This record gives sequence, C-alpha cells and structure tokens, in this order.
Amino acid sequence: MKNSSLIILFLFFFFISYFSYSMTDEGRSLFVEKRCVTCHVVGRGVFVGPDLWKVNNKYSKTDMISWISNTDAIYEKYNKKPINSGYPPMPNMEISTSESLKIINYLKSLDSSINPGTSVKLKGEVKNFSNENVQDYEVSLESVMAEKVLNQKKILTKNGLFEVNNLKGNIAYRVKIIHDGIEYSTDKFYYMPEENFKDIDLTIYDSSQNPDSIEIKSSHIVISYDEESNSLLFAEIQNVNNNSKYIYVGLNSLIEQKRNIIKFSKFSNIENLSFPHRSSETFIINDDSIVETIPMPPGQRRIVFTYTKQLDFFNTKLVKNFFNTIQSLTIIIPEDKINMKVKGLNFTKSKSDIKELKDESYVTYSFNNIFKNDNLELTFSKPFDNYISTRIIILIIFLIFSFIVFLYLYKKNIFKI
Ligand code: HEC
Repeated sequence: MKNSSLIILFLFFFFISYFSYSMTDEGRSLFVEKRCVTCHVVGRGVFVGPDLWKVNNKYSKTDMISWISNTDAIYEKYNKKPINSGYPPMPNMEISTSESLKIINYLKSLDSSINPGTSVKLKGEVKNFSNENVQDYEVSLESVMAEKVLNQKKILTKNGLFEVNNLKGNIAYRVKIIHDGIEYSTDKFYYMPEENFKDIDLTIYDSSQNPDSIEIKSSHIVISYDEESNSLLFAEIQNVNNNSKYIYVGLNSLIEQKRNIIKFSKFSNIENLSFPHRSSETFIINDDSIVETIPMPPGQRRIVFTYTKQLDFFNTKLVKNFFNTIQSLTIIIPEDKINMKVKGLNFTKSKSDIKELKDESYVTYSFNNIFKNDNLELTFSKPFDNYISTRIIILIIFLIFSFIVFLYLYKKNIFKI
C-alpha cells in the first residue's frame, strides 16, 4: 500500500492542548476558547498577530474592548487597515464586552507575571503497545503557523524518550510519528504565555481492520429549546469503545479518500451541524449519517455533534435509522417547554437525574439495546399553553364578551330601524 494513503491524523492531544489549562482564570480560558492563542503570544514575539505583552499600555480601555469585541470599530476609528504594518487585518471576533474585559484583565496580569523572551521546552515518550520490539523512533516536530508547516525537525528517541529545548514559543507545534504505515499525530498545540514546558506522549499500536471490537457503548441526545430562534438545540454524545488491543484503521473510502471508521446515524433534516471538539474535515457528512474517519486506538472515545432544528408551526418530525447496535440511548428534554412523541422504539421515562438540569423539569427517555436498522421517529411540538399568550386569551375573552352583548342587543331588537 502507498504510504500517502495511510497518512492519518490522530487528534489524541486535542484535549491536552485546549482544555488542560487551569480553569480558575476565566480570561485565560477565554484566551484559548476564543482562539486568541491561535494568533497571538504574550512576551514571545510576533505570531500571526503582534505580541500582546503590555498591549494595554498602548490603547485606551475602549480601544482594547473594540480590538477584542469588534475590530470593525477600531478600523473605522483610526481609518486605517491594518493598523500595524506588516500584519493582515484582525478578523472581527464578536466577543461580548464582559468577556472582553476578562481577557483584558488576563493580559494585564501578564505584564508583571511573565518573563518576556523566554524559550520553551518539549518532552515526551513514545509508548509502544505493538508486538514489534522497536525501542527507538524518529519523531518529527512540525512548527505550524496558520495551517502552514514552516519547519520540520526530526528527533531520535532514546529508550523511547525525546526532549527538545530552546524552542521558540511564538509558533504552534505538532508532533508526529509513523508506525506500521500509520501516522500518529497530535493536534496543533500552543504554549500559553505562562507555560514553558509540555509533556507529550505518543502511543502506538498494531493496526487492525476487524470492526468486531468497535461498539457504541452509549449515546445521549440532550435537547434544549431556544425561544428567540424558535429552535431546538441538540447535543449528541457518542461513547465508542474499541475492545481490542489494536488500533482500528477501518477501510479506505475510495470516493472520499478518507477512512471509514464508524458510521453514526443522523437525522436528515437538521441544521447547523457542528463538532465542538474537532474539525469537521475529520468527518464525512452524508444525508443520513456522519462517518468518523480518525482511527480508533484501544479504549474509549467520545464524539460530540451539535445541531439545531427550527420548529414548524404544528409538528416537527425527525427520523433516524440506526447503523449500529447501541447498548443504551438516552434522550433528555425539558418537557415544560417542548413536547416529544417517540415512535419506533420502546422506552422508559423518568425525571432527569442530572444534577445541573434538576430545576428545569428535564425528562429522560431511556432506550436499551438498539439494533441495526431500528428506526426512531421523534415528533416535537410546543405545549399548547405556550401558543396562547395572556394577550391572546384577553382578546378572545373580549371577543366572546362582545359577541354576547351583541346577541343580547340583537334579541332586544335594538338594531331594528
Ligand atoms: C486570525 C488571527 C487572529 C485572532 C484569532 C486574533 N487576533 Fe488579534 N490581531 C491579529 C492581527 C493580524 C492583528 C494586527 C491587525 C492590525 O494591526 O490591524 C491583531 C491585533 C490585535 C491587537 C492590537 C495589537 C497591537 O499591538 O496593536 C489586540 C489587542 C488583539 N489583536 C487582541 C486579540 C484578542 C484578545 C484575541 C482573541 C479574542 C485576538 N486578538 C484574536 C490576529 C488575530
């Protein structure tokens, strides 16, 4: 087989690079969440955008809020685009003022807490879970800026360990290794301003194309209702298990040039499908299915989809056909806001036992042992009293009352000329 057809991205470290930061500082989390970290460093030089060390001394608070919440305002005010020559313009991030203030406070806190100009370190281990007795590997370290690989460095491991010192901190990195024709790669990762060091493990396995060990352990659909857009919002969580000791590499889809790892069923007429933890290029999206394309190592993987569905005036129907057996499926819905009718599968219904949702009259529908080709039909409608606002009720009472008065007067022959 050609090596190029086996190149696989393996987003093992996504959670490390995006979520392992301490959540105590909201501004710091927002710096990651709102993607500032993908373009700016603090105290380590130029990245896609300028270094933000002491940037608060350069602008008024109002300007800082504009930079973060609405760059159009900044470009309009200074009548210049870009403001800093040699950079592209900064996109409008559309971040709320209160969130902008938190980011500003975070940036201010770095003025004195960091040492500008420091380099960073990377350390890691290749964990070999394959049967092949190789101890040392060639790991490649890529420097990445705005999707472009600027540099690639080969590092040989020593007893499986590798270490790189004196790295520049104003670039994103990615670590890769090829084993058995499969490329294992971390996602891009960034060093946070206060971070000088990262520890990264790459785990390699023998590969298998036998799908028997892959199963969907459980699937959860959490539904909420957004009054403003009159839409249902869905978060669907799939917990998939690989029960073997091999990495499951699936089959190559010739049409898509991607691997077919596991196919999840999808409601066909949904809107705004997105993948909060992953890039959508790592899925194949069809009318009735979403196909995972990243090989599955042993153990569990959680995959999250979100989507919306605008409510029709009367009933809104969603149908899906299952491609896999699923041990347990739950659907959680706020029944005071939305009615749901289930057709096709047996269920038990209970009050939701999720603590965070207790106050909101969420109800859990539980389905056990779903089989391949089972069908699920959900019909949503708004509870009747949501349609009839108090104003309409008053209007109806007024009309009935007027009609009675009219009838009374008519009977009394008042209208006869
Ligand atoms: C896609 C890349 C990108 C992202 C994402 C981004 N920026 Fe920028 N930023 C830039 C560029 C490029 C400039 C320079 C633009 C110019 O001079 O007109 C800039 C300029 C700035 C400036 C002014 C810097 C100076 O010295 O004049 C601030 C402040 C800033 N960004 C803050 C942020 C924050 C906070 C976030 C996250 C909410 C963020 N940026 C997200 C690319 C980005």
